[in-house]
Amino acid sequence: MTERTLVLVKPDGVSRGLTGEVISRIERKGLKLVALELRTVDRALAEQHYAEHDGRPFFESLLEFITSGPLVAAVVEGPRAIAAFRQLAGGTDPVEKATPGTIRGDFALETQFNLVHGSDSTESAAREIKLWFPDL
Ligand code: CMP
Repeated sequence: MTERTLVLVKPDGVSRGLTGEVISRIERKGLKLVALELRTVDRALAEQHYAEHDGRPFFESLLEFITSGPLVAAVVEGPRAIAAFRQLAGGTDPVEKATPGTIRGDFALETQFNLVHGSDSTESAAREIKLWFPDL
């Protein structure tokens, strides 16, 4: 089933020059980019995007981090795109969960600075795509 998912190359990925690497892996997997934008986000958008984490101990630093510099937001499409991108990304903790060969497993060390975000369900994907690309 063709799906769409929201992908972010977070500020750590952009500042480390890994945007091309991430996009290349998405395309080599066979997924298609249907929207792509470099932008710096304000706190309001960050709070909405991460609303489900409000109240967690890392929430404030997560907001600070995600608004700290330019990121790349993309909508990615393909069969089972949500699960397919999460497979490419690897687990949230880049050392304990992500395995070598995944984006986080290959390039990240800390859970907060885990380079990429991908929607985790069809409901999140719909909500996040509407939030980041309301005109799509
Ligand atoms: P992401 O997939 O964007 O979804 C929520 C983000 O919160 C996650 O990636 C991490 O960047 C961050 N995060 C989740 N758990 C922790 C944690 N225990 N400590 C710091 N950051 C976290």
